[in-house]
Amino acid sequence: MEVIIKSDKLEAGKLGAKIIARLIRDKAKAVLGLATGSTPLALYKELVRMHREESLSFKNVTTFNLDEYVGLDPSHPCSFYSEMHKNLFSQLDLAKGASHLPDGMAQDLPASCAAYEAAIKVAGGIDLQLLGIGHDGHLAFNEPGSSLASRTRLKTLSQKTIKANSRFFGSEDKVPRHVVTMGLGTIMEARQCVLLAFGRDKAEAVRDMIEGPVSASCPGSVLQFHEKTIVLLDPEAAGKLKRKQYYLDVYAGKPAWQLWD
Ligand code: PGA
Repeated sequence: MEVIIKSDKLEAGKLGAKIIARLIRDKAKAVLGLATGSTPLALYKELVRMHREESLSFKNVTTFNLDEYVGLDPSHPCSFYSEMHKNLFSQLDLAKGASHLPDGMAQDLPASCAAYEAAIKVAGGIDLQLLGIGHDGHLAFNEPGSSLASRTRLKTLSQKTIKANSRFFGSEDKVPRHVVTMGLGTIMEARQCVLLAFGRDKAEAVRDMIEGPVSASCPGSVLQFHEKTIVLLDPEAAGKLKRKQYYLDVYAGKPAWQLWD
């Protein structure tokens, strides 16, 4: 894992956007894996700015989101479909039908999950998967205890995640208990992962993910087995890392050809 600690989440989001922009400019038909929540918002804002001001075009890009709530209509303001539409899709030139989210309203969820996996394969696989991490170490909605080889499927949210996400719904009892999420095995097949984490309350999960043992108890730790993962942090989220100074030294000493500017 490559750990980069930026001065704040805006700077980290800008760097994440540069990494994505490089991919889109280099590869004719890039496939992006996208995430929801508060963490990627600065990065999405920067992508929109690059689209408007630097003619970064998404017209040949395909996207697959990590997860969606079960039983929440896409038109519900808290659905991940609504969130993605508001924060990103409506502001870019993506082709019609190029953006995919798991279907939380499917009658036959196992069949719908299998179809989602198949659609990723047909698109050529995910080139770059954007990720956040939960306070309990979850990746997408793969809660602690998830199989490290899991595929897209139905999951039950942990109490910690229900509490964290109640800020979007107004109260805990309004948060759906079930979700459809890409599995850890699905995420591990992405050619590159970029994970962002900000704030003091993520510091423990970040430490366990990067420096703890690989364990289903911290699903994010599976990324230690991923060949090409970049973790973008602010100083608060990096606050509990034992090798913090080493990560700072590595980034400061990078040769120009390894940078994204
Ligand atoms: P957040 O969620 O970005 O809202 O903190 C991250 C996650 O749960 O993976």
